[in-house]
Amino acid sequence: MDKVRVGVIGFGNMGSAHAKHIYDGLIDGLELVAVCDTDESKREKARLSFENVEIFETYKALLDSGLTDAIIIATPHYFHCPIAIDAFNKGQHVLSEKPAGVYTKQIKQMNEAAKKSGKVFAVMFNQRTNMLFKKAHDIMQNKELGELKRMVWIITNWYRTQHYYDSGSWRATWAGEGGGVLLNQAPHNLDIWQWICGLPKRVRGFCSVAKYHHIEVEDDATVYAEYENGATGIFITSTGEAPGTNRLEISATKGKLVIENGKMTITRLITDERDFCFNSEDDFAKIPSEVEIIEQTEKESAHIGILQNFTNAILHGEALISPGFDGINEVQISNAAYLSSWKDKWVELPVNDNEYFRELKKKSKHSKTHEGLQNDKSADMKYSERWSVRW
Ligand SMILES: NC(=O)c1ccc[n+]([C@@H]2O[C@H](COP(=O)([O-])OP(=O)(O)OC[C@H]3O[C@@H](n4cnc5c(N)ncnc54)[C@H](O)[C@@H]3O)[C@@H](O)[C@H]2O)c1
Repeated sequence: MDKVRVGVIGFGNMGSAHAKHIYDGLIDGLELVAVCDTDESKREKARLSFENVEIFETYKALLDSGLTDAIIIATPHYFHCPIAIDAFNKGQHVLSEKPAGVYTKQIKQMNEAAKKSGKVFAVMFNQRTNMLFKKAHDIMQNKELGELKRMVWIITNWYRTQHYYDSGSWRATWAGEGGGVLLNQAPHNLDIWQWICGLPKRVRGFCSVAKYHHIEVEDDATVYAEYENGATGIFITSTGEAPGTNRLEISATKGKLVIENGKMTITRLITDERDFCFNSEDDFAKIPSEVEIIEQTEKESAHIGILQNFTNAILHGEALISPGFDGINEVQISNAAYLSSWKDKWVELPVNDNEYFRELKKKSKHSKTHEGLQNDKSADMKYSERWSVRW
């Protein structure tokens, strides 16, 4: 095989931008052969925009067509897992938009189907291609800064207006979206948190519902987490703050790193603080350290980078930047944070799948999906800078 024939399922904001990138030949070895959307206006837009691309109303018809080797899922969240499962069962490679799914029970079923199929499975965590996050991942995974003590991420620059929330009937509802800022915007950061530092042992979540918008889910959240070794994590996110902040600080036994404003400051202690603490005779010692500053000199390859990597994985066996099986990890954190917030209790990870699913169903029962503004703006095929890492 020297070309991967791909179908894009969900031709909205994100799916139409992916389809356009592929159609325009920006991804070597990936050919757009099919598009699917349940909405006729989106299908019409695709028909008018692309030549020699088959347009489908249902994803099942697309999968049955035999036209594709791989699919990209860019639908509302609840559909990610069922579509992926059917696609794996039809022998397709799958790249799913984030989050991998809404709840862990559903994601585990998808992971089973993926494993059985042996096909390439990736999830769109495009921020993993940012050079600073990648460097932080390598530093912490190689224990260059020793053992984790604390992770603090203030990621409050996911600003969204009421107009954004009103732009689709599924948005910001328990039944349609399955969560708020923790499930839609912050998954990128929750993923990078766990990618760099690993998963915590237990979580307390404080989710503020409709604090800044007329919605039924949270638009502001604070997660406090504890690790097996006693390290802690604090994660603060919001869609209601302007200008907001994007600042990640990781403190470890041999120093700390801070990522903010497009640069990473790494402070390396000359000795491990834990040894120093018990061996120094100076009550108020300051441990000598060296500081390195790394500027973000290149823009992340982002969505195109992940699409290219997915294609290369299929064609040449390249290692995935963002394997599909990693997708469950950040959902473990968000599911645990929701459960903790609803029940006012600590929640251990891995989260109890059945308990979470039961509680989510209760929320969804009273969910009121709202009529979206039915314009075609959300299939404008334009890549938005708001999807890049913003400082
Ligand atoms: N990686 C990123 O940076 C990024 C950015 C934006 C959105 N997203 C993700 O992309 C996905 C879609 O978000 P969006 O903003 O494009 O939403 P959207 O509402 O603009 O588009 C979703 C599209 O899916 C269609 N659809 C709904 N159910 C379907 C089904 N069963 N089969 C086929 N089509 C169906 C809708 O008609 C709509 O056109 C979400 O998972 C979202 O979180 C990711």
